Amino acid sequence: MVESRPLAAVSTTSVDGTRRLAAALADLIRPGDLIVLCGDLGAGKTAFTQGLGAALGVEVPITSPTFTLANRYPGALTVHHLDVYRLVHIDEVADLGLHELVDDASVTVVEWGDAIAGALPGGFLEVRLLLGDRPDDRQVEFRTVGTEWADREPAVLAVASRATGE
Ligand SMILES: Nc1ncnc2c1ncn2[C@@H]1O[C@H](COP(=O)(O)OP(=O)(O)OP(=O)(O)O)[C@@H](O)[C@H]1O
Ligand SMILES: [Mg+2]
Repeated sequence: MVESRPLAAVSTTSVDGTRRLAAALADLIRPGDLIVLCGDLGAGKTAFTQGLGAALGVEVPITSPTFTLANRYPGALTVHHLDVYRLVHIDEVADLGLHELVDDASVTVVEWGDAIAGALPGGFLEVRLLLGDRPDDRQVEFRTVGTEWADREPAVLAVASRATGE
């Protein structure tokens, strides 16, 4: 598969930097949104979700859903946090009930969601986290897929450029 060029890319140099970047994106979130997190193993998908969730009013610690597959956090919007790394068959996606989760009162974040992109209920913001040269360096790339996020591309770009300027 040929990767399209990212809309924007930001470097972070600490886990808190990645959390702050995610928190800055929270302003753009609309009820019913879907965010796909992908990239390198251990690059910070869960850390990103922690920053986003806290900014959306989630008051409890967000932990990796690797073994539970899906966690639900009440906040200003309900945050559904899924990790589909362990799904062996694409058929298992149906069991997640994604179409039911993505509703007008929630935002749904799917770690490794790129692997099931064709089975997702709509368009999404893709956030690809990649390991960098030094241990705490990360490259965070943004792409929009489908119509839901298309009109927010300028806003995503603005968040990315503010983060770069920090
Ligand atoms: N710039 C950075 N951004 C994010 N995490 C960082 C950064 N620098 C170091 N880290 C560390 O990298 C680890 C990221 O772990 P995290 O569980 O968020 O990754 P993940 O992508 O969800 O992993 P997995 O692929 O297992 O789901 C944490 O231990 C965090 O402290
Ligand atoms: Mg994770």
